[in-house]
Amino acid sequence: MSNAKQILAMLRSRAEGDEDAFFSIALQVAAAEARQGRRETAQEMRAEIDKARARGSRGASVAIPFAHPRGSLEGLLEMREPRFKLKDVVLNERLLGRFTDILRQQRKRDWLREHGKVPNRRILFVGPPGSGKTMSAEALAGELNLPLFIIRLEGLITRYMGETAAKLRLIFDETAKRRGVYVFDEFDAVGGQRTATNDVAEMRRVLNSFLQFMEEGNSTDSVIICSTNHPSLLDRALLRRYDQVLEFDTPTSTQIKQLISTNIVPMKIVRPVWRNIIHAAEGLSQSEIVRAADDAVKTAILDERKQLTTENIIDRLQERHAMRTAFLDTEGA
Ligand SMILES: Nc1ncnc2c1ncn2[C@@H]1O[C@H](COP(=O)(O)OP(=O)(O)OP(=O)(O)O)[C@@H](O)[C@H]1O
Ligand SMILES: [Mg+2]
Repeated sequence: MSNAKQILAMLRSRAEGDEDAFFSIALQVAAAEARQGRRETAQEMRAEIDKARARGSRGASVAIPFAHPRGSLEGLLEMREPRFKLKDVVLNERLLGRFTDILRQQRKRDWLREHGKVPNRRILFVGPPGSGKTMSAEALAGELNLPLFIIRLEGLITRYMGETAAKLRLIFDETAKRRGVYVFDEFDAVGGQRTATNDVAEMRRVLNSFLQFMEEGNSTDSVIICSTNHPSLLDRALLRRYDQVLEFDTPTSTQIKQLISTNIVPMKIVRPVWRNIIHAAEGLSQSEIVRAADDAVKTAILDERKQLTTENIIDRLQERHAMRTAFLDTEGA
């Protein structure tokens, strides 16, 4: 048997997370066994060490990409495990086509690079609130099996006034190190000329840094998505930096029907009058329609009903309209 000192050293290296030391002591023990003529035990030990090492390195390559940001990045990036695939997002044909194209370039990025081409990876999402921008980013990450990182620029800028550019540098460095889908949400905070309440010089500095960082290539082909509700606020110099600009829109009649049908599963609407439902949903965002459908389902569950009526849905849609009006009233006040 090996001596107590070796066991102690192994325990210590384990506690410190020093894998190399752990395995090198284990190998020393195996060698000692062999020297004492216990060849079989030595062999067995070496085989186990090899196995553990192989498992360790495989494990690491899976664990690292999904590890939550730590150290200086903490609080800058919010990591989310993607819950959606592209089929979950209700999109028009045009957007679906663009997404399919982006996915194809990303999936075949090695092939493109072999031909001296870089896959599209800088994308701007423009569209009204609740139209599925964040959800689509999540779906892209889900399709590519990559972690999703959300950066709230508004928060970043106000919290780190004066060091925003340095914080952005950290984030862009991370995009080059760790492949993922990075979403700069509320992007108009930096891309816009909304400088009345902010320090103008600082915003200029941040914007210039951003432009510069966007130009840098990154060998990991991380996808960078900027999302905004206000395209008119964006600087023209910035628009040129994107490989693709995708426009999201309010839902069409077909999409309203699709949003409601998929979000009431496993319930059904008895003899649905779609014309009336669609009429009641007009003017609402995708997000509001999904919530209305969800509320109708919850009520049915609580009432122990298995079905919905056209009126159930319409009531909930009207409720969403009312909420919106109430909000606009307080906003205007
Ligand atoms: N196109 C869509 N298809 C299916 N569900 C949608 C769609 N758009 C929105 N939803 C629903 O609404 C929720 C919120 O949407 P999301 O956060 O993607 O909107 P957004 O465009 O990012 O809004 P904001 O501009 O306010 O950030 C989603 O989680 C989803 O449940
Ligand atoms: Mg969003």
